[in-house]
Amino acid sequence: MTPRLCPSILSCDPSDFLTPIREMKAGGADLIHLDVMDGSFVPPITFGADLAGSLVRQGLGPVEAHLMIVEPERHLASFVQAGCRRVVFHAEATAHSHRLIQTLKESGVEAGLAINPGTPIDAILAVAGDLDLALVMTVNPGWGGQRLIESCVEKVRALRHACPDLPIQVDGGVDDRTIGALWQAGATDFVAGSHLLRRPS
Ligand code: DX5
Ligand code: ZN
Repeated sequence: MTPRLCPSILSCDPSDFLTPIREMKAGGADLIHLDVMDGSFVPPITFGADLAGSLVRQGLGPVEAHLMIVEPERHLASFVQAGCRRVVFHAEATAHSHRLIQTLKESGVEAGLAINPGTPIDAILAVAGDLDLALVMTVNPGWGGQRLIESCVEKVRALRHACPDLPIQVDGGVDDRTIGALWQAGATDFVAGSHLLRRPS
């Protein structure tokens, strides 16, 4: 599988998302990763479908929304409407992951299912045949700049073993020191945030 780069704007200055996004696209980004947080599933609040729609309209997509929100079923339509290429929601946030995957795919949007570090891969295996992407969180969601949790690399390896053809995304603590092991373990889609904003000293 071809690796895909999905830079996150979470750690960018919120008063100017456009400059770093243009740089990310020029640097080879495949999708712009929007970390949507609701202050409930995770403590911080970030941004929503309006930002996704604005980026798409300005030709700065494709955009993927990583929904760290409770009851994602209440908000899927707005992200579809915004023109997201892919919407990723959390298995822990809904009792209806299969139905939401169906809803997204019927809307012509790629469906991704995410699991936290404390959630077993079974949540993904149950619906793997219907998924476009599995997101194995490699930190506890909510904040950029955290260190990758090593045990999550083994979850990626186990999921790759069980699902040889499923695109697997990793998110959290991805940088030039960790990306090699994640690729070796079977990840295909790489989210990186804070590492991209580090300037060489
Ligand atoms: C964490 C977010 C990540 C975050 C990654 O909740 O889902 O996308 O931005 O940030 P880094 O690359 O700094 O770990
Ligand atoms: Zn994310």
